[in-house]
Amino acid sequence: MKQVGILLLIAFFVSPVVADELEQTIAGGRLYDKWWVDTKLTPPDSTHPAYKEGKQTGNTTWRCKECHGWDYRGKEGAYSKGSHYSGTKGIRSSEGQSVEQILQVLVNPQHGYDKHLGKEDLNAIALFVSKGQIDMTKYIAYDTKEIKGDAKAGKQHFKKHCLDCHGKKGDALNLAHEKSKPEYVGTIANKNPWETLHKIRFGHPGALMDMRKMHNGMGREHHRAMRKMWEHMPPMLGVLNEQEQINLLAYLQTLPR
Ligand code: HEC
Ligand code: HEC
Repeated sequence: MKQVGILLLIAFFVSPVVADELEQTIAGGRLYDKWWVDTKLTPPDSTHPAYKEGKQTGNTTWRCKECHGWDYRGKEGAYSKGSHYSGTKGIRSSEGQSVEQILQVLVNPQHGYDKHLGKEDLNAIALFVSKGQIDMTKYIAYDTKEIKGDAKAGKQHFKKHCLDCHGKKGDALNLAHEKSKPEYVGTIANKNPWETLHKIRFGHPGALMDMRKMHNGMGREHHRAMRKMWEHMPPMLGVLNEQEQINLLAYLQTLPR
């Protein structure tokens, strides 16, 4: 009886903290991308001073992912070549470090993020670096982009968590920036599985369900999506475990491109 009491006491004090840490880690994962979307801040219009070797310019060079990659491996990973090469080292060796240690890196003169982001946001990013990143090389092959996952098993997760907005075949939402070439969740999962995995885990900054993104006109998909109006794309960290997230990614690759 006494033990149960103590356990309940511990659960009472620990769980809000854990939930809060998970929430912050997720927020940090989204800030790794376009951090000015969730924070509603104005992005710098200059090119990041530490951005030296790459081809990008302007505010996109302030996204962590632009230098360190969606796979967190910088020049050793998917950004070892191509238009996003920046010659920057990854952040894998910072996994598991204390938030304080990582904060020092984020505010050092090379990064200078304290001039742009508040304390809470920096904290969330540091938590993500420490606890939210994963080793994607275990699951995604660099050459073929093949996923070590079970697409069949991933289908159930898609149905439960994604179908309402993205549609049965994943083609209800057009995710392309230009109108001419539609892109679906299947397109992105095949083109950039690392980015897709990051977004499965943390959501997509500002991804608010908006009927104007609906691609297939009126119909059943539209009605289903209607119920999700103004809902944000949900992060799967804390909802699905790592292998389930991978299975979902494998399933996304089977959807129409
Ligand atoms: C313009 C490029 C650029 C951007 C954008 C950038 N960084 Fe860095 N980052 C660097 C460079 C350069 C280093 C130093 C690497 C070295 O020591 O060789 C570094 C180092 C780091 C390290 C230490 C890596 C290690 O293990 O030694 C962490 C952690 C880190 N950055 C996190 C971030 C986060 C989080 C963001 C976004 C808020 C970010 N960086 C944005 C260029 C960038
Ligand atoms: C509440 C609706 C909603 C749900 C549920 C949802 N999404 Fe999304 N998702 C969106 C919206 C809206 C966008 C488009 C964001 C934009 O283009 O601004 C998006 C974009 C994406 C993108 C592309 C991001 C990019 O780079 O353009 C991927 C990948 C994605 N979703 C995967 C998923 C997966 C996997 C699930 C299920 C775990 C899911 N989504 C569930 C609304 C949703």
